[in-house]
Amino acid sequence: MKNIKGIILAGGKATRLKPITNVISKQLLPIYDKPMIYYPVSTLMQAGIKEILIITNEENIENFYNLLKDGHQWGIHIEYAIQKEPNGLAEAYLIAENFINGYPTALILGDNLFHGDKLHEIIESKKNLQSGATIFAYEVKDPKRYGVVNFDKEGLVLDIEEKPNHPKSNFAMTGLYICDETVLEKAKKVTFSSRGELEITDVINMYIQEKSLNVEFLGRGNTWLDTGTYDSLHDASTYIRTLENRQGIKVGCPEEIAWRKKWITDENLNLLAKQYDKSGYGEYLLNIM
Ligand code: TTP
Repeated sequence: MKNIKGIILAGGKATRLKPITNVISKQLLPIYDKPMIYYPVSTLMQAGIKEILIITNEENIENFYNLLKDGHQWGIHIEYAIQKEPNGLAEAYLIAENFINGYPTALILGDNLFHGDKLHEIIESKKNLQSGATIFAYEVKDPKRYGVVNFDKEGLVLDIEEKPNHPKSNFAMTGLYICDETVLEKAKKVTFSSRGELEITDVINMYIQEKSLNVEFLGRGNTWLDTGTYDSLHDASTYIRTLENRQGIKVGCPEEIAWRKKWITDENLNLLAKQYDKSGYGEYLLNIM
């Protein structure tokens, strides 16, 4: 049995968030009470993934390391790699070649925020993944901005179209891709698209051609947000704030997940909480114990 390894792609240009992102990577910006990168890290941790590679650009790698260290404080293992240019999502697999090392992977975009029960159960159920890939589709009002899933009348997936002018469905492919080890050889075959990127859609379309793609639909009980614009960034913060204040429980809190999974002890959590004693975050960690 091979456990899934996690890859978080946290580079990119974030052109729609300039001038803020002139000085800091967008995945380090806050979504309400914690840095954006905590959310994809938490999604992977909730699914039981303990080996994570973070890919980012040269300018920001030190900041990511200062924030997340080697992961041992949360009972996980984090490695880092550099993407020199934002050449597209499929390049993540090429950069991660040594890390993948024959294992299945869950690639998640550093600016994607998932919330809901179903997701980590599905990822966990892929632990024994022998072959094929799984993507997650989510119904959106403005599919043009995304990779869009095209179906035939029987609901079979025909292909994925990247940012189409005339989308054939309202189902967007979210930024989470679970793939078997053959993803590496597939990514190596991808060539630059007309917009100058190595497209993940090309990789996923290869799985469709092999008839080995599984599409999971994230229904109403799930939330998928991306955070590429000022408004979506603000909306995501508001959403998390509303949920957390209403329920009194945090979303995307790696310390809590690590403790609930017994990857860290009470003593470890106590020490982590003390770092944040005046922020309310520390108080929360002490309270859950
Ligand atoms: P995008 O939204 O495609 O791009 P971006 O964040 O650079 O923003 P903009 O369109 O405003 O220029 O990226 C989605 C996520 O993937 C985001 O977290 C950045 C990351 N990414 C990389 O790390 N490397 C890449 O080559 C690309 C294209 C994206």
